[in-house]
Amino acid sequence: MENTLSKIVSLAKRRGFIYPGSEIYGGVANTYDYGPVGAELLRNIRELWWKFFVHRREDIVGLEASLISHQEIWKASGHTSSFADALVDCKNCKLRKRADHLIEESLSGEKEIKVEGLTDAELDQIITDNKIPCPNCGKVDWTKVRKFNLLFPVHMGIVEGDQSLAYLRGETAQGMFVNFKNVLESNRVKLPFGIAQLGKSFRNEITPGNSVFRTLEFEQGEIEYFFDPEESNWEELYEGWKKDMWKFITKKIGIREENLRWRMHTDEERSFYSKRTEDLEYKFPFGFKELWGLAYRTDYDLSQHEKGSGKELRVVDSQTGRKILPHVIEPAVGINRIFLMALSDAYQEEEGRTVLKLSPNLSPYKAAVFPLLANKPELVSKAREIYQDLRETFLVSYDARGNIGKRYLAQDEIGTPYCITIDFETLESDTVTVRDRDTMEQVRLNASELRNFIQQKLI
Ligand code: GAP
Repeated sequence: MENTLSKIVSLAKRRGFIYPGSEIYGGVANTYDYGPVGAELLRNIRELWWKFFVHRREDIVGLEASLISHQEIWKASGHTSSFADALVDCKNCKLRKRADHLIEESLSGEKEIKVEGLTDAELDQIITDNKIPCPNCGKVDWTKVRKFNLLFPVHMGIVEGDQSLAYLRGETAQGMFVNFKNVLESNRVKLPFGIAQLGKSFRNEITPGNSVFRTLEFEQGEIEYFFDPEESNWEELYEGWKKDMWKFITKKIGIREENLRWRMHTDEERSFYSKRTEDLEYKFPFGFKELWGLAYRTDYDLSQHEKGSGKELRVVDSQTGRKILPHVIEPAVGINRIFLMALSDAYQEEEGRTVLKLSPNLSPYKAAVFPLLANKPELVSKAREIYQDLRETFLVSYDARGNIGKRYLAQDEIGTPYCITIDFETLESDTVTVRDRDTMEQVRLNASELRNFIQQKLI
C-alpha cells in the first residue's frame, strides 16, 4: 500500500500535479507547490465544493476572511492555550516526532494501539515501556513528551513585542464566528443559516510525510451552520449534513463508496466543546484517515467571542424579542486531502498503461485533441480549429508529438477522459474519433456534437 503512495507521488511530480516546496533551495519540509495540472485539479475541487454547498443552497452565504488575524481571536477560541501537539525529540540525532505518530508507526503492526486522548504522561509511559527506537538512528533515547503550540505567530510592522503579535489563522472557522454579526446585519439571512469559506490555514505541525495529507499550509472548506437550539433539532441537522457530505464525495468527486467510512470520535478524543464529532474517513494508501470532520460545536465559539470582545453576538427574534445565541454544526474538510484522495482513488495500473480514472468533473483537461499526423498541414489546421473552438468552453489539451498510442498514454496519466483524433475522414465528413479513457473504446462523432458530448459527462 505504501508502495502505491510512492507511485502516486512520483507520477504527481513527473506529470506536474505536485512538486516539493522550494525545491531548488533544498526544500522546506511539509510544503508543496501545485504544478499546471495540479492547479487545475485543485480549482475544480474548490469550484465543485462552492457550487454544491454555497450556490446551490439559499441558506448558505460565502466569506473570505483575512489570513492574518488578531491574537485575541485565538485566545478566545482556546487555540493559544490548547492547540498543541505532543512531541518528543531523539536526544541522539535530534529527530523530532509527534508522540502519537511514533507509537502508531512502531507498534500498530504488533498490537491494537489507541493513542487518541492519551495524556502526555501516558504517551511517555508507552514509549518507555515498549523501548521504541528512533526511526532515524535506532537509539532509544527520547526526551519527555512536550507540548508545542501549532499556531504560526506573525510580527507586524517594526515594533517588537506583544502589541505587534498576530497569528496566521489555524482554521478558517474563526473568520465565520468573528464576522457573524457583520453577516447577520448586512445580509438577508435568518436562522438557520450557514457561512462558508474556502481558504488557507496554517499549522506548525510535524508530519510523517504522507505527501499533501498533512502540511504546514493547507486549504480548508468549512461551513459554520448556525441555528436556534430551541427551534431546530440538532440531531436532524447533523444527519442531514452527513448525507450531503457523503453525496458530495461519492457523486461529485466520484469516490468509490467502499473506500469511505464514518468514524465517531471517542469521548477521550472529542474536543471538550463538541457534543458529537464524526470523521468521514477515506482509505488512503497508508490506511483509513480523516478526510472531513463534522462537529456539533454548540454555542462555544460565539459565547467565547462575546466574552473576549465584549460585543453581543446574539440574534434577536423579531416576533418575541428573545435573544438567541445560536448553536453551530461544522463540516470541515481539507481541500488538499480531497486532492490526494482523488489521485489515490483514480490511480490504476493496467496492462501497458497507468491511468488516472478521475471523475470528468475533476479532470484537469476535459479532452485532448490530436491531428492523426503532425506533418499533414490540412490535418493540423483542422485539429487546431476544433481545439480552439472547444477551448472557449473547456480546458482542452492539444498534442501532435509522437504517435497516437503515446499521446493516449500521456493523457491517461493525467486523467483526460476523452481523446479526439482528427483524421482524413474528418476532412471529408467533419466527423472525428473520440477515445474513452476508461474503456479505451472509440466512437465516431460529428465535430459539431463534441461540445454537448463532453458537457453531458460533467455533472
Ligand atoms: N474548524 C475545525 C477544524 O479545523 P480539523 O479537523 O482540525 O477541524 C478540518 O480540520 C480538516 O482540515 C481536516 O479534516 C483535514 O481534512 C484538514 N486538515 C487539518 N489539518 C491539516 C493539515 N495539516 N494539512 C492538510 N489538511 C489538514
